[in-house]
Amino acid sequence: MEKFPVETFRVEGRFGIYDAGVQALFERGVKKIPDKYVKSVHDRPCAKNVVLTRRIPVIDMSKIYGDERVKVIQELKCACEDWGIFQVINHDVPERSMQSMMEMAHRFFDLPAEKKMQYYDSDPSSETRYGISYNADKETILDWRDFLLQRCHPLSDELISTWPDMPSSYREIAKNYAMNIRILTLRLLAMLSESLGLYREYLADVLKEHEQKMLINHYPPCPQPDLTLGVSGHTDPNVITVLQQDEVEGLQVLRDGLWIAVHPIRNAFVVNMGDQMQIITNGKYQCAEHRAVVNSTKTRFSIATFYGPSLDAVICPAPKLIDQDHPPHYRQVIYGDYLRAFRAKGPNKKAYLQSVLL
Ligand code: OGA
Ligand code: NI
Repeated sequence: MEKFPVETFRVEGRFGIYDAGVQALFERGVKKIPDKYVKSVHDRPCAKNVVLTRRIPVIDMSKIYGDERVKVIQELKCACEDWGIFQVINHDVPERSMQSMMEMAHRFFDLPAEKKMQYYDSDPSSETRYGISYNADKETILDWRDFLLQRCHPLSDELISTWPDMPSSYREIAKNYAMNIRILTLRLLAMLSESLGLYREYLADVLKEHEQKMLINHYPPCPQPDLTLGVSGHTDPNVITVLQQDEVEGLQVLRDGLWIAVHPIRNAFVVNMGDQMQIITNGKYQCAEHRAVVNSTKTRFSIATFYGPSLDAVICPAPKLIDQDHPPHYRQVIYGDYLRAFRAKGPNKKAYLQSVLL
């Protein structure tokens, strides 16, 4: 029997009474996780399937300006064909901006549950929301995480007014961070276009108005980390994701049936390809299936920026990458439709991508 009845973890939010998430469980000192967080045996993070000794590629973005440009573009191409995930260093996003955003993440989640609950919303289509797991109303088994999601582009005062204003500097720091990440992402998209032999603005052009979302993931320590996951195995539905992680290990990427641990590098970002990148490149660049594990002693934070098409953008394999030897593998999708299908269920391996295979 749980020491605390489930009701004690329920808090009044804008939309009614809801579970206060895993932070509340951790703070109450539960020794046994509730059944709704226990994954099936097959999905649990079995240590014998995890590789700690391999490294995902690292791209040094400062080299793009010098004699080594061609070599860096080639490295990027190999990283995307081979892994679909890599880290970037010397990326020109100011360290100060990264640190202040991480500090804001900590301070937001340090707020009392009642305060955070002002932003609680379980509807996955809501653009700014504090939530638990992914789609807590629909999932039968939940992930061990709480999160704060917000749209960051196109930026307007109206949009910013929907963001949390606690702590008081939150909005200013988040705005600055979002703009910095956008600059980095546009540079990456140009490099990726070049690496595919497409004109430099190709990827930026197919995304129409562009969509940028920031997701702060908060993974409190878990008393039984072997039974659950911070986020289940999935691919990101967007085009490209730029993730800042703290120094606590947790992110893993699936490769040849094994999970490779992504070791944090100070001030680096982890960049992964999403489903739309795999569609646009007709499978040349693979999106990486990844997950996050939790541990029993340390809180872990990550800040993911999902960059992708606007909802009305039509996504299909780039015509320049199609010929007799390379017929199209994916059908055309309207991004908004794709996202709706993804959101209905939440993280689920490569399920959505397979649904648009020809
Ligand atoms: C995600 C994700 C991984 C992490 O939010 O989509 O994959 O390390 N997060 O938090
Ligand atoms: Ni992800």
